[in-house]
Amino acid sequence: MNAQRPSNTYGHLAVHYRNPEEGPLAARLLREIGFTECYSMAQPDGNMFYHFVIDEQANRGTDRIFYLLCMPDLLRKLYDEMHRALKVGEADENATVTELRKMQAEDPEFNFHAAVVFNSLEELEEVVQRLQKLAAEDPELKGRIKVTLNRARPGTPEVDKRMDESPVFGGVTRHTYGPNGVQVFVETDLIAGGPLGDNWVFEFDYVFPGYKDNILNAPTDEAATILAEKESAGA
Ligand SMILES: [Fe+2]
Repeated sequence: MNAQRPSNTYGHLAVHYRNPEEGPLAARLLREIGFTECYSMAQPDGNMFYHFVIDEQANRGTDRIFYLLCMPDLLRKLYDEMHRALKVGEADENATVTELRKMQAEDPEFNFHAAVVFNSLEELEEVVQRLQKLAAEDPELKGRIKVTLNRARPGTPEVDKRMDESPVFGGVTRHTYGPNGVQVFVETDLIAGGPLGDNWVFEFDYVFPGYKDNILNAPTDEAATILAEKESAGA
């Protein structure tokens, strides 16, 4: 590996809001999350093209961008046809769809999603508190967002203490798969996602610094070595 060579980065993620009417609300959700709007503009058809960066510290260059566009009519037509054919939401809904929705409800990571890693747990906790309040009370966003939290898997005393003291993770009973980090999931039907186009899932993570074994590094070579050492020590 060349230590002098800068890493390639993710450039952008482009997603769709469902229809022209819902564009402003979908964009508002991104603002509430804390994304920073930069170069939004109306397209020739009159629909808004929203340009966000995921963090105000982003350089507003070519990476960390989140594009939000209006779903093209053809895609909406396809989703509508899929929903009709599979009887989504009806009494005789397709059994696979029902099973998929059950799995999705239990595990926000079951399907396609995109994750942002926060550098500050306190900032992430502020976002969670804001979104939980909006989900509960906001006239526009109530019923449109679902927030699910995974606190750090128990086992690191100082991390467990911080979790117990957290204003948002303190009472949480779900845990991450790996240790020394947290996951926040924000599902919304304001943005198309998943095979049926009916829910998009954001993941927001925080990884406690200084632990080589954490929620995001597995299965790197280093994490695999640590796990093997633990297992042999416990054997
Ligand atoms: Fe994930």
